Amino acid sequence: MSKVKLAIIYYSLTGHNYQLAKAAAEAAQEAGAEVRLAHVPELIPTSQLESNEGWKNYQRVAADVPEATLVDLEWADAYIFSTPTRFGNVSGQMKMFLDSTVKLWMEGKLTDKVVSVMTSAQNPHGGQESTALALYNTMHHWGAILVPPGYTDPCIYAAGGNPYGTSATATREVAVAKEVLAAARHQAKRVVHIAEKLN
Ligand SMILES: Cc1cc2nc3c(=O)[nH]c(=O)nc-3n(C[C@H](O)[C@H](O)[C@H](O)COP(=O)(O)O)c2cc1C
Repeated sequence: MSKVKLAIIYYSLTGHNYQLAKAAAEAAQEAGAEVRLAHVPELIPTSQLESNEGWKNYQRVAADVPEATLVDLEWADAYIFSTPTRFGNVSGQMKMFLDSTVKLWMEGKLTDKVVSVMTSAQNPHGGQESTALALYNTMHHWGAILVPPGYTDPCIYAAGGNPYGTSATATREVAVAKEVLAAARHQAKRVVHIAEKLN
């Protein structure tokens, strides 16, 4: 059986989704997958980024990770997308990347990919679930196979009980809770195991 190829694609301005994506990547590798970790391009003008005290971190969350390309999507059998919540919705940066997939979609190259999503928001009830569901909308159009975490492991309850996708509450310290990282790891392993069954 060939190794599952997993692309983990995130947008992160201050680092929470970066941490979720990294934890998922490590766990997926442990589960035997070949993993590509990549971030979508920033769209906020540099002048705005640098004039905002809280956003000065932005270069660090992308420095050691390549930019996501459509080649990554074609290459992978399975995807995990991670985006911050923006007014209860997917970030514009992630949405722009998803919209750029139209050619692959037309060619049927996104069909039957195993997908799962993760997110973060500042407030515990600030829209994590609506963001996860909004992210999945696109994947229905692709004809992807949605693999949400559900309640498939006790670690999901410990992380706050979000069955749609692991979600972090953003903090000033930019430290994702260890319970949430554990849920991200579980979610990634589940994606690999389901994709293996379909390989
Ligand atoms: C334009 C904008 C909209 C946001 N909307 C929400 C929101 O609807 N609910 C919420 O709790 N937090 C909201 N936030 C906070 C972000 O979700 C939070 O900063 C993000 O999850 C951190 O992720 P990151 O560290 O990966 O960038 C918003 C932030 C920005 C800049």
